[in-house]
Amino acid sequence: MKLGLKIEDAIKLNPELKKYTYYKNGKVRIDFKSKESLYLYNRTVLKHVFNIDMDFHRDALIPTPVSRYLFIKNLCESFKEENNRDIEDVLEIGTGSGILAIMIAKYYKCYVYATEVVKEYIELARDNVIRNKLENRIKIIDSKGKIVEGIPEIEGKKFDIIISYPPFYPPHSVPSKRSFGGAYARNVELIGGGKYGEGFSLRILREGIKYLRKGGIIGFMMPHKPKKRRKIIEEEVVNLGLILKTDKIKIGKRIRHIIKGHLL
Ligand SMILES: C[S@@+](CC[C@H](N)C(=O)[O-])C[C@H]1O[C@@H](n2cnc3c(N)ncnc32)[C@H](O)[C@@H]1O
Repeated sequence: MKLGLKIEDAIKLNPELKKYTYYKNGKVRIDFKSKESLYLYNRTVLKHVFNIDMDFHRDALIPTPVSRYLFIKNLCESFKEENNRDIEDVLEIGTGSGILAIMIAKYYKCYVYATEVVKEYIELARDNVIRNKLENRIKIIDSKGKIVEGIPEIEGKKFDIIISYPPFYPPHSVPSKRSFGGAYARNVELIGGGKYGEGFSLRILREGIKYLRKGGIIGFMMPHKPKKRRKIIEEEVVNLGLILKTDKIKIGKRIRHIIKGHLL
């Protein structure tokens, strides 16, 4: 699958993008400072590159489809390499619009339980699941503020992969329009806990390990900075007796890190 979509092709596929274009050095560009253009462009990429029809909440983070796809592909391929069998059951923590859950269920044909805490995002994720005819494969669950333990729908279940692009904000973070995909983040998205915002991820590891099948993986995607946050999470993977593996994905100038803990 060719992952990118050239700006000129995106404009042809979705002429609504035209009003956000400008020319630099004779090349057409999109002004991505406008949240609307980011919204339209990413929807176009999802539709034409990934054959996924999704809507995003106007106030929320607008996810970059390519980084999400590279993340799920990395985890799913690691699982297959280690286990020599197909993935059956996946748990996603903090699904937002449902993008990771939808990509995994669609491309790896497995069953996904995905949690979220913001009511409007839960509704949107459920709509997105239906739009893509994946309601037999994905269950969107209200975590009611829990992380993994104490969610009745997943109690007693075991998963091959637990995946999360978690909230990772240190205490006292304030919403920043630019750095949050053009969104004004809600307070619930600006959580994380711990000194560097690692707290939420540590809880996923500590609680999630009990819900992991043998051979399973818990995997996170993390921004490049701060390194300390990644280091603390990586140390906890090792402390819990999981096998640590890390990878990097590069999308344009942005680096995203993947942290994986394998249960052997
Ligand atoms: C960084 S966003 C990731 C969204 C989406 N998975 C993506 O890749 O774009 C983290 C999400 O976690 C959600 N969240 C925060 N606390 C949660 C909890 N206790 N249970 C489930 N989701 C939670 C937030 O509302 C937000 O949608």
